[in-house]
Amino acid sequence: MNAPLEDELGDILEKARDGKGWSEEDLARAAEVPVAAIRRMERYEIAPSDDEARRLAHALDLDYPSLLAIARGEWSPQPVSADPAPFDMVCLDLLMGSYPVKCYLVSCRATGATALIDTAGNPRAVIERARSLGVTPRMILLTHAHADHAGGLGALDKEFGCPAWIGPDEPRPSGSRDLRVLKDGQTLPLGELAITALFTPGHTAGGVTYRLGESLFSGDCLFAGSMGRANASWPGLFHSVTTRLLSFPGPFRIYPGHGPATTVAEEKRHNPFFCGKVPA
Ligand SMILES: [Fe+2]
Repeated sequence: MNAPLEDELGDILEKARDGKGWSEEDLARAAEVPVAAIRRMERYEIAPSDDEARRLAHALDLDYPSLLAIARGEWSPQPVSADPAPFDMVCLDLLMGSYPVKCYLVSCRATGATALIDTAGNPRAVIERARSLGVTPRMILLTHAHADHAGGLGALDKEFGCPAWIGPDEPRPSGSRDLRVLKDGQTLPLGELAITALFTPGHTAGGVTYRLGESLFSGDCLFAGSMGRANASWPGLFHSVTTRLLSFPGPFRIYPGHGPATTVAEEKRHNPFFCGKVPA
């Protein structure tokens, strides 16, 4: 098995309820599962029986086999293979306080040109890692403005002196002396390669996914086997995942801000929110 999933069954139930605008009592009525049991499932205290999982999945428009596999702890994505495009990628598995978060250093293999995707809110660790790798990011690409993704820009700006990019509908994080606003579909050169900004709102109003080669750096839009929290718009987030992220070919890698990497194919087959909702 791969790394533990970011979201457990309890998170999935809560996010699916959020999509319906349902309380725990509403779900209890719709699925004919006691509300006390639903509360304990959402607190990770108990797992549903197979029959309860089936009724919960049906009520919440989730894929039952996928939900059951996650409820039983039987699924996590296969480790992803290296992207065939000529770049190197280093995933920094960091902590902001006690909260695990990932950011990424990507470098054009031919020229060494490097970008930092998100900050993990931990600039000291990012700077140390960049120094140890012998790379100097020439741009910072922010998926969104939450502190665990965009915090620490001041220290990074001082160290690297490079622009930071963000979506136009996102709050402006502090610390960068050269904060630039993206257009949807905009490409940014990375040595001999190009990174494309794809707007994927929903978790936040101005969320951005970055595509490099056959890899998608998706922030908190999608987690393996789940979706992000829809702080801005649940239908908007669902739309972003189904029409943007999962519109890429199956082998495309998805690197979220939390939890293990996955692929478009894995999520189409095993994500309870999206299995059966997008063309195979
Ligand atoms: Fe976030």
